Amino acid sequence: MDKIVVEGGSRLVGKIPISGAKNAALPLLAAALLPTGTSTFKNVPLLQDVATMAKLLRKLGWDVEGTGTNALTIASPVSRKKLKLEAPYELVKTMRASVLVLGPLVARYGRARVSMPGGCAIGARPIDQHLKGLEAMGAKVTLEHGYVEVECKRLRGATIVLDMPTVTGCENLMMAAALAKGRTVIENAAREPEVEELALVLNKMGAKVQGGGTPIITIEGVDELSPIEHSIIPDRIEAGTFAVAAAMTRGDVLLEGARPEHMDAIVAKLRAAGVQVSAESGGLRVRGAGELKPIDIVTQPHPGFPTDMQAQFMVLACLAKGQSVLKEMIFENRFMHVPELGRMGADIQISGRAAVVRGGTKLTGASVMATDLRASASLVLAGLVAAGKTEVLRVYHLDRGYEAIEKKLRGCGAKIRRVKT
Ligand code: EPU
Repeated sequence: MDKIVVEGGSRLVGKIPISGAKNAALPLLAAALLPTGTSTFKNVPLLQDVATMAKLLRKLGWDVEGTGTNALTIASPVSRKKLKLEAPYELVKTMRASVLVLGPLVARYGRARVSMPGGCAIGARPIDQHLKGLEAMGAKVTLEHGYVEVECKRLRGATIVLDMPTVTGCENLMMAAALAKGRTVIENAAREPEVEELALVLNKMGAKVQGGGTPIITIEGVDELSPIEHSIIPDRIEAGTFAVAAAMTRGDVLLEGARPEHMDAIVAKLRAAGVQVSAESGGLRVRGAGELKPIDIVTQPHPGFPTDMQAQFMVLACLAKGQSVLKEMIFENRFMHVPELGRMGADIQISGRAAVVRGGTKLTGASVMATDLRASASLVLAGLVAAGKTEVLRVYHLDRGYEAIEKKLRGCGAKIRRVKT
């Protein structure tokens, strides 16, 4: 298994190209199940999760070409005989977002069988809202042998009020509603840029989706959709992670292609910490200047502060003199980086959903590991400023969501390398 080795102490200066967004790419690849024909996606990030989604689409009978490059083509099966409407356990257990094929398959073929995702490292993460929505649209949902089976000859439009603005739940229901009969209204919808991107792509395919990116999404079902070509939006969480790296090392980095309008909450907290952030024509420029100030953060659905940036900002808070409080309100177990950061010298106390960081303690390099993608990223960030050598183990978590993280950081002067073991 690979590990990442970082020697702390380098200031990051230069440019980092931001890749396509993982959490936009995954639902868009699932949306390619809706039309007949070949869809093409560009700016696809080279990530393990994208490879897993490609593998799943192939298992279902679709032809996927271009894996290992940033452009993917996805072609529908030439004959119905090739279809296999099932997402098996071995793929769902490695990537929960596999559940995104449920909505499109039921909408188009009237049936799907998907291994029920269990809890994961960051929380229980049920899919009750996905299923409740499909039931409201007329589907019969049964759970047997660890698989959820959803059946409905033709879904019909319904008004669905989500208990919470679930991102993938909303995306699943949007894709299902695109081919349903009649009008679907999703209330308390997720407003993340990735949900808005899916609405845009569905409309390119010929769907009638209104209100993507707002709390109420209205979808008029159509009878069929057409394949498209689309370039995926830049990853706001990857950009945010490198922004924190620049701030922590008192560096000066241009995040090429980053879209500031997707990053308001992140930029606001960087500025509150005393970091200089400016939108420039090529992207977002981040300069760490002077002493960092403590920050208080509460994670919330978009446009609030994203849970996917909580771990990275916690490391930033470790460098500020004074006390910061970070509250995690989305996932019940997303503090796995805390004990590992503690081993590097951070002073962090957890009390319920809050982590209290007393910044300013000396961080020293250590061998560390985490079982979650963003937690792993935070350990790499800590390594950039810790005295001596940090080894981040279990790199496969990072590879799920960061394209060539070590190369991008090295390009700006970080002493970081991947070691194959
Ligand atoms: N929830 C339910 N029932 C449901 C659905 C969600 O109780 O049916 C709860 C969850 O347990 C959680 C909250 O609602 O407490 C929000 O979860 P959500 O469904 O929005 O999360 P998700 O769709 O499973 C996506 C991202 C995550 C990101 C969250 C929150 C993708 C593929 N994944 O997950 O990304 O943290 O939204 O923004 O879009 C990551 O990239 O590292 C990552 C974990």
